[in-house]
Amino acid sequence: MKINRSILTLEEFRKQELRFLPQATGELSNLLRDIALAAKRVNVEVNRAGLADLLGETGKINVQGEGVRQLDEWANAAFMTALQRGVSCAGIASEELEDFLSFDEEICNQSKYVVVLDPLDGSSNIDVNISIGTIFGVYRRTTEKGSPCQLTDFLQKGSHLVAAGYIIYGPSTMLVYATRRGVHGFTLDPSMGEFTLSHPDIQCPPKGRIYSVNQGNEAGYNEQVNRFIRGCQQKSSQEEGPYSLRYTGSMVADLHRNLLKGGIFLYPAIPSFPNGKLRLVYECNPFAFILEMARGRATDGFNNILDLTPGCLHQRVAFFAGSREMMNSFAKN
Ligand code: AHG
Ligand code: MN
Ligand code: MN
Repeated sequence: MKINRSILTLEEFRKQELRFLPQATGELSNLLRDIALAAKRVNVEVNRAGLADLLGETGKINVQGEGVRQLDEWANAAFMTALQRGVSCAGIASEELEDFLSFDEEICNQSKYVVVLDPLDGSSNIDVNISIGTIFGVYRRTTEKGSPCQLTDFLQKGSHLVAAGYIIYGPSTMLVYATRRGVHGFTLDPSMGEFTLSHPDIQCPPKGRIYSVNQGNEAGYNEQVNRFIRGCQQKSSQEEGPYSLRYTGSMVADLHRNLLKGGIFLYPAIPSFPNGKLRLVYECNPFAFILEMARGRATDGFNNILDLTPGCLHQRVAFFAGSREMMNSFAKN
């Protein structure tokens, strides 16, 4: 039997990375391993949700005022448990938890990282078998190691992120993560049950031909946004426009596509969400970090997302993200 020596699992890849970081303790690699483990469990449940009676609402409303689906809860529990047992994480802040959770056990208190998390993104797409995802960000805690983590550990600017990533549960399941050393994508090989390097060193193309926006909300957008959308629909030269509109309602899927192919994603403020709908801490900051590390950009229409200081865990912001040149055209338009 021929063995493909070019296969590199996430763990092997992290071990190679550590060779370039002689001071590293391996704690971040442990944490990524725990996230990957939870992702594999969630992947199994997502795959069989229709059979395992895991579709639909729980009947509960979360802190955001949104209906909680069974898989939202399941995914939240899976990541929480994996991170708590993994001992590389002092606590988490999650879309599904009103407050942050300090693991507050002697061994977890010794961890230097905290994790922010949207356990299941795009959950309205669960019941109709469209790609959904998980989003995560990793901060070095600002409070003393050895003590329980505090709210301030989670309310750091996105520019302080140590790592961020997402898992997309799609036709294939992928884990993409970014550190200051680059952005890398791993595809879950179901035959091995391992995330395997498939997309090394992802760079977001400087421009693309896709715009992603909920155009049904157009009447509520400001003139700058609508002018830009009209520009996307017009043909200005041989190569430029009209662009294709692609929008699934799963931010992970929309941003994953635009990261690989080039494009722009817009979720502006609307009357029902005057500050924007997406959450700064566990949705926008991780993606802004990934995009910046892949040479893309993300703003709230005025400021770089990564420069904003979150006022609270569930803060919402307007979010514009994608290819660098398209983001520049949006800013100038
Ligand atoms: P979540 O499922 O975590 O609440 O996030 C859903 C988000 C995001 O994934 C998506 O881009 C956006 O909501 C879609 O919103 P609209 O249906 O208003 O377009
Ligand atoms: Mn989400
Ligand atoms: Mn969610």
